[in-house]
Amino acid sequence: MSMRPLMRMRPAGATYGYAVRIGGIVESSQDNGQAGAQPIGVAVVGAGYWGPLLVRNFAGCPEFRLRWVCDLAKSRAEAVVGAYSTIETTSDLSAVLADPQVDAVAIATPAATHFNLASMSLQAGKHVLVEKPLAATHAEGSELVDRAEQSGLVLMCDHTFCHTPAVKKIREILHSGELGDLHFFDSVRINLGLVQRDIDVLWDLAPHDLSILDSILPPGIEPLAVTAHGADPIGAGHACVAFMTIELTGHAIAHLHMNWLSPTKVRTTLIGGSKKALLWDDLNPIQRLTLFDRGVDLADPEDMPEQARRDAFVSYRTGNAFSPALPEREALRGVVEEFAACIRTGRAPLTDGRAGLRVLDILEAASRSMSFHGATVGLRSSR
Ligand SMILES: NC(=O)c1ccc[n+]([C@@H]2O[C@H](COP(=O)([O-])OP(=O)(O)OC[C@H]3O[C@@H](n4cnc5c(N)ncnc54)[C@H](O)[C@@H]3O)[C@@H](O)[C@H]2O)c1
Repeated sequence: MSMRPLMRMRPAGATYGYAVRIGGIVESSQDNGQAGAQPIGVAVVGAGYWGPLLVRNFAGCPEFRLRWVCDLAKSRAEAVVGAYSTIETTSDLSAVLADPQVDAVAIATPAATHFNLASMSLQAGKHVLVEKPLAATHAEGSELVDRAEQSGLVLMCDHTFCHTPAVKKIREILHSGELGDLHFFDSVRINLGLVQRDIDVLWDLAPHDLSILDSILPPGIEPLAVTAHGADPIGAGHACVAFMTIELTGHAIAHLHMNWLSPTKVRTTLIGGSKKALLWDDLNPIQRLTLFDRGVDLADPEDMPEQARRDAFVSYRTGNAFSPALPEREALRGVVEEFAACIRTGRAPLTDGRAGLRVLDILEAASRSMSFHGATVGLRSSR
């Protein structure tokens, strides 16, 4: 079913195009160039660590008019909008959902609450942006996707990294075939992280790398099966260090390393192909991406002398390394703009509910594997 684009008409006599600083955030409303279109009314639910970043980006995006911030702890919502804001605050989601000026809801609460809050919002006819992971289980996520599709509403998952210039560039390079056939994807996401109470390191950090993998894989390459190991050396009650391996079609392999206990912060992804390889170092702003014209070729025995044929199986290519220029842009700005574009046009978001489901499929399989000490678990997703 196709999605319902937003068609609220601009009220007669209304003028747009102002920006006012209110209580520390900029409330803005500008004509977005679409005749008859008015800003999309949006509410942010959850004003803990991540919610305020969404608030700032919605407030700074002319496509949106931020109307509400909702948190069970109303004082947090009030602190985010500031004392003199016209943005309303509440601890009661039903007040938000009853407001006809609210077209869309962004949910930045703990994963266990995503299903209920997103279901209520879809039920009320609101478009939904939900933080990663889409839901606490694949079954819940699947129900959300069905509900959104049946009602023609946008359901977008905030897989933030997929909206960074670096990941968009990596996707472009892989899809263009410049790397050749994919051989491996190897990511490291480690630092002294906040040990979460409700979820293990796998559910906290792996959604980032799984969503990145999901968004960059070229057509025809799919995750097939997962093995995972985790450890809880500090007695936190769940894994604080985890390693995940994913079998991909075409003899390719992905490996993910997540760790809350590492004294140093590392954010690297190495992607190897049959022609070139690519290193993404997210902590190196002057050289985030490096494309290597280096690799290993299988030697063609026909071209080799007798002795060399016995000695060598492979030949090495040592060409240049190149670092493409990338714009510096806040990824969340890309997220809110993508959400607006999908609400306006009815097209599916780059990181739609189905992308969220594929991530949940791998997370559940990895948890199952971890509980069986690294047994291989097949995946149900088909891309
Ligand atoms: N995209 C990213 O890169 C990224 C980064 C960090 C966190 N997140 C995600 O954002 C979400 C929130 O994480 P956080 O670190 O901000 O958590 P947090 O605990 O700091 O904040 C959560 C807030 O939600 C409120 N809340 C809980 N239940 C609620 C309900 N039913 N109604 C209204 N408010 C409710 C809490 O009072 C709290 O203020 C999680 O899903 C997390 O995975 C995403």
